[in-house]
Amino acid sequence: MEKEITLEAEKKYSICTCGKSKVIPFCDNTHRELNEKTGCSYKSLKITPKKKIIITLSSSNWEDKEEN
Ligand code: FES
Repeated sequence: MEKEITLEAEKKYSICTCGKSKVIPFCDNTHRELNEKTGCSYKSLKITPKKKIIITLSSSNWEDKEEN
């Protein structure tokens, strides 16, 4: 799944790496429950852009719920 997002300058964003967030591409801390159940150690990726930017993110861990 691919997501285009706008990031504001100097604002800190947490990006989901586990694929279980309900607000992909952002982390909603669901990884904590997943880590506890599975023994994994997922953590979010933190991004703080210096300038306002539009980026496209993708991860094979993100399920495309619209296709399932
Ligand atoms: S919910 Fe996926 S990394 Fe936090």
